[in-house]
Amino acid sequence: MKFEKNIICIGSGYVGGTTMAVIAAKCPHCRVTAVDVDADRIARWNSENLPIYEPGLDDVIRATRGKNLFFSTDIEGAIGGADIIFVSVSTPTKSFGEGEGMAADLQYWEKTARLIGEAARGDTIVVEKSTFPVRTAFAMERILSTINRGLRFQVLSNPEFLAEGTAVRDLEEPDRVLIGSREGPEALAARDELVALYENWVPRERIVTSNIWSAELSKLAANAFLAQRVSSINAISAFCEKTEADVTEVARAVGMDNRIGAKFLNASLGFGGSCFKKDILSLVYLCRCYGLNEVAEYWNWVVRMNEYQKNRFVQTMLTAMFNTLAGKKVALFGFAFKADTGDTRETPAIDVARRLLAEHADITITDPKALENARRDLHGLPVTFSHDPYEAAAGSDAVAVVTDWNLYRTLDYEKIFESMNKPAFVFDGRNILDHKRLFEIGFNVYPIGKVPLVHF
Ligand code: NAD
Ligand code: UGA
Repeated sequence: MKFEKNIICIGSGYVGGTTMAVIAAKCPHCRVTAVDVDADRIARWNSENLPIYEPGLDDVIRATRGKNLFFSTDIEGAIGGADIIFVSVSTPTKSFGEGEGMAADLQYWEKTARLIGEAARGDTIVVEKSTFPVRTAFAMERILSTINRGLRFQVLSNPEFLAEGTAVRDLEEPDRVLIGSREGPEALAARDELVALYENWVPRERIVTSNIWSAELSKLAANAFLAQRVSSINAISAFCEKTEADVTEVARAVGMDNRIGAKFLNASLGFGGSCFKKDILSLVYLCRCYGLNEVAEYWNWVVRMNEYQKNRFVQTMLTAMFNTLAGKKVALFGFAFKADTGDTRETPAIDVARRLLAEHADITITDPKALENARRDLHGLPVTFSHDPYEAAAGSDAVAVVTDWNLYRTLDYEKIFESMNKPAFVFDGRNILDHKRLFEIGFNVYPIGKVPLVHF
């Protein structure tokens, strides 16, 4: 079949793989190829055992793979035939040298930019899909124009706002699609081409265009604002615990103000995920580079508050369980950084597990989708894993809810209580359980930002 456009994405991770699958489903007239250096990952995209878990993704892949969606390790070949190249490679926090622990590590996109310059065969639109520091497009343009062999490249910024666990829905029905470009006629034509691609399924009024630096900065700002809301409610949760206020009631009252809004006000043991911390630290680093030290400090506190909240969760466990966890068995309900994903990058569960082990607790981890990643994250540590929450809880002194999986709401807690050592504790790091009911069963219950319900 002859396709009207050849679209490729370099980097087939959570964003690249899922985004290309949805573009392929919505644009049957386009040939879509997701490429990656990681051959195992590509093999899994081509198998029944996809490399990531996302609700609804299996169906989209089944409907498109082999028809107009392809996964490949032939990156140069794919670049050569592409009209539009999305770049969705990793941009992790730098772990060495200048900016270590703060700045975004740009080595992967730099390699990608060079390869695009070398392997392109015609004029090409290059779309930044990864989250990059502001003004990355400028560097990409310079690399491409240096390698230029008479070809013209237009660089656009089209940051991705999907959240894991709802990625397919977020891509199919986005709140907005943001496309940043330069002002010249060729750049605007490239922008219009990308707008037209999204118009295949996104209403035009939801496709927002802006200058390229605004688009790059909007992505960092959006993540900073979202994380800030979580840190704000978590800060209030600590105050609630001192004053007998209830954080759920406070969040409801605050969130009913239309100007504030109700979403993202669930107090928790802390936010996780591959991006919030990394993107805020990148923002903080950039602000410092521009001499904006107060601005940098302001955003840095969002991350510091999150560290405080994670520490507080384990401290509460320690204090409640008579200041010693040595030899006690603790079942962690959930390891993923949020429900409906198997992703464990920056999950608070890692900090909790490590701190419990430092207290010589004996921990068992259960999670419906994240055990493969949990085993890798805690490799070499004395931890037990179980697919079955009942098995994980049996013989334990405490259950700690770390991930907000729906299934934990509906377990038979009477059965769990019977199987545990007494006194039995529940630490609900997500406030998803029925605390009163658990207390009636006999548990000592410690929610986040609420008065604990204890029998002594
Ligand atoms: P990921 O680690 O799952 O995927 C990145 C992929 O890029 C990996 O498979 C890696 O092998 C590949 N890669 C690295 N260097 C390469 C190269 N030179 N050539 C080809 N492939 C290469 O990461 P992700 O979660 O998909 O995130 C990708 C980008 O999207 C990041 O910048 C992230 O901040 C941003 N983002 C992520 C999310 C999310 O929910 N995960 C949401 C929005 C934006
Ligand atoms: C987040 C953003 O929501 C996306 O818009 C963005 O595209 C993405 O980061 C990214 O750039 O990677 P994600 O990290 O997948 O998406 O998940 P979120 O739903 O934002 O949750 C992040 C963390 O905050 C999770 O650990 C979650 O449990 C926690 N959270 C969220 C709370 O503790 N309370 C809340 O009210 C909301």
